[in-house]
Amino acid sequence: MLRREPLNPPKYVYPVDEWRMVEKQYYPRFQAQMETIFSIGNGYLGMRGVCEEVTPCTENGTFINGFYESWPIVYGEEAFGFAKTGQTIVNVTDSKIIKLYVDDEPFSLSTANLLSFERVLDMKSGTLNRELVWETPSGKKVAIKSRRLISLEHKHLAAIEYEVTVLNAKAPVVISSEIANHKYIASNNNDPRKAKGFKGRVLNPKANYCKDGRILLGYVTNQSKIGLACGIEHQLFTECSYFYKSECSEDGGQAVFSVDAQPGIPIKLIKYITYNTSPGNSIEELSTRAHRTLDRAKNLGFEAILVSQQQYMDDFWHRSDIKISGNPYDTDATTALELQQAIRFNLFQILQASGRAEGTGIPAKGLSGQAYEGQFFWDTEIYVLPFLIYTAPRIARNLLCFRYKMLDKARKRARQLNQKGALFPWRTINGEEASAYYAAGTAQYHINADIAYAVKKYVEITGDKDFLYNEGVEILVETARLWHDLGFFQDGKFHIHGVTGPDEYTTVVNNNAYTNLMARENLRYAVQTVQMLQNEDLERFAALLDRTNLALTEIEDWQKAAEYMYIPYDEAKKIHPQDDSFLSKKVWDFENVPRSKYPLLLNFHPLVIYRHQVIKQADVVLAMHLLGQEFSEQQKKSNFDYYDPLTTGDSSLSVCIQSILAFNLGYTRKAIEYAYFAILMDLADIAGNSKDGCHIASMGGSWMVMVYGFAGMKDYNGNLSFNPRLPEGTTALHFPLTIRCQRLEVDIRQEKVTYLLREGSELRIKHQDEEILLKVGIPVCVKQKNQDWE
Ligand code: BGC
Repeated sequence: MLRREPLNPPKYVYPVDEWRMVEKQYYPRFQAQMETIFSIGNGYLGMRGVCEEVTPCTENGTFINGFYESWPIVYGEEAFGFAKTGQTIVNVTDSKIIKLYVDDEPFSLSTANLLSFERVLDMKSGTLNRELVWETPSGKKVAIKSRRLISLEHKHLAAIEYEVTVLNAKAPVVISSEIANHKYIASNNNDPRKAKGFKGRVLNPKANYCKDGRILLGYVTNQSKIGLACGIEHQLFTECSYFYKSECSEDGGQAVFSVDAQPGIPIKLIKYITYNTSPGNSIEELSTRAHRTLDRAKNLGFEAILVSQQQYMDDFWHRSDIKISGNPYDTDATTALELQQAIRFNLFQILQASGRAEGTGIPAKGLSGQAYEGQFFWDTEIYVLPFLIYTAPRIARNLLCFRYKMLDKARKRARQLNQKGALFPWRTINGEEASAYYAAGTAQYHINADIAYAVKKYVEITGDKDFLYNEGVEILVETARLWHDLGFFQDGKFHIHGVTGPDEYTTVVNNNAYTNLMARENLRYAVQTVQMLQNEDLERFAALLDRTNLALTEIEDWQKAAEYMYIPYDEAKKIHPQDDSFLSKKVWDFENVPRSKYPLLLNFHPLVIYRHQVIKQADVVLAMHLLGQEFSEQQKKSNFDYYDPLTTGDSSLSVCIQSILAFNLGYTRKAIEYAYFAILMDLADIAGNSKDGCHIASMGGSWMVMVYGFAGMKDYNGNLSFNPRLPEGTTALHFPLTIRCQRLEVDIRQEKVTYLLREGSELRIKHQDEEILLKVGIPVCVKQKNQDWE
């Protein structure tokens, strides 16, 4: 059920293009949303799509993944074990600022007379480009072209090319390139999804340097004590005469170029930008690194940086692109091209959120906004990792290693909650629990099983046993320990009480079906992995025992807990109750609660929500996607039929999963409708808050919709099968997958499907019920069986 009308920006302003996001006019109504859409990033550094001149803007932002400020969480009523310290990603110095003055007249988009305008996020080249012609009040025509990128190749580097040509006259032109620290103000919002504001300074100045065109600033965060060195460097190319001067203070600096512009002669400024951060290193060390990055960038030059960006992007698209033709949605609302554009946009934004996320997670909004405090959730493991595992296994590994590094803090957290093993934080940046609302936070113990699930999927699809035997197994041991310690035997069954499942509208319940199913999978995989390790590598097995004090009896305990895990099932209704009490609650009054009251979390006290059967996001339905092999077809259908009408979709993590299950069950119309909402979550502002940043989980979900939904892929235990369901109107779907270092290409048409192992040696897959052994370079084409559509 979707409770908001999609908001489609007008096509004459935002014409559809399969590789580019295009804006044809400066259009204030969509400014906030477009700052998100036009954001750029590389997984380490991100900038919202605010213009170089900064104004007009709704929410300017530059973010560094994992660079946060901490603050004491103040509770009205304290209780033991509540999270003590909040963490918020810092909006760091703004370094993209370039201000332009012609005849001392400042250029501003909101007031300028624009003779032409185009802004383009080019997803093929990984650049944000703008071209416009401004007519000044005195009739001078000024062409301004800019190109901005955050390098995927050079983690700490961003660059801007800014070219100004006065077309029809001479004029004094001043280009002021700046870097500025923000002054923080407290934010007064009541939306728990948004970020906390700070009163006063977050970045304490520690150093500043200015020489020629180079400016460098150094800071340390007030509470979290993380160092930051950021800098800018310039090159000016023009045949016009000019002079410049630069200066800086502790909160900013500027290099000002004064040019005697001649008609038709371009003035091109190249600005190199760097950010270096670290909790451990001194500002001197970070500054040295920043200098080095700027030296290297200047030596390379903008063109070479562009070329390396293009190479990175080509490789990305080669591994990840999904091509779709034809329009599965039979209204005019979505054309085939729009769908294609939106799919690419989602994949591109995932890259921007994760590409160089090394030693961090992926924030819920990537680096496109500050909402959710820039923290990491299960979104990464359950929604984004599938895409990365199948297209960029190295990035997937980095993300799992980041969780591994968090283990000690997770062990400590488990002790605070009287538990053995490790409990991963529900939301965090630095590894410590940052959720101030335990009912919909810490109680989501399923985060442990979600991480274990991702470890399993990663290992099955990549074959990376090295990771499994070094890092993965330790995660599995500690998470299995927690489950065994948390649950207990009652009436011969293993129960887990007092937890919250994915559905945050139902909290602190007994035997949440999703949690029990996922915990069982976690326990089973821990047993299997430890036993395999014991058989295959005694040395590493001994190291594991040493690191974890594992006793062999524990493995038997886990086995028993898994074997006797209680999975709620209601014989009369033939469904899996979401938890022990769910079915006894009153059903939410969907008829009479108006659309304007959604999302419910912003309009009803939690107690009102919790006492009803009303679901924020897929819960049992998600379990049926992740662990589909545990359910019969009949159970899937009954569960879906029961839960779907109760699901508000108030979380953007829901529609993608609902779509996949609807595809599985042959509810094609519904599947497509949900797919459309997931894929257009940000471009059509389905959730109404795209302005606050991209919905990265839903973007990962969009990939899943295409692969697990349209193509009907199943990959339980690493065995791949496909049961494509190409809806009427869709003519072709094509995508690559990387499986154990081999490259598989899947090409789906209405009447046939072609599987081609493009790189590798051989791969066994299934098409519907048919076994296929693929040999490299030999395409296998199979006819589609007729299917039942609804
Ligand atoms: C969802 C969570 C999710 C979080 C961050 C919440 O609204 O309910 O499942 O992890 O957003 O995306």
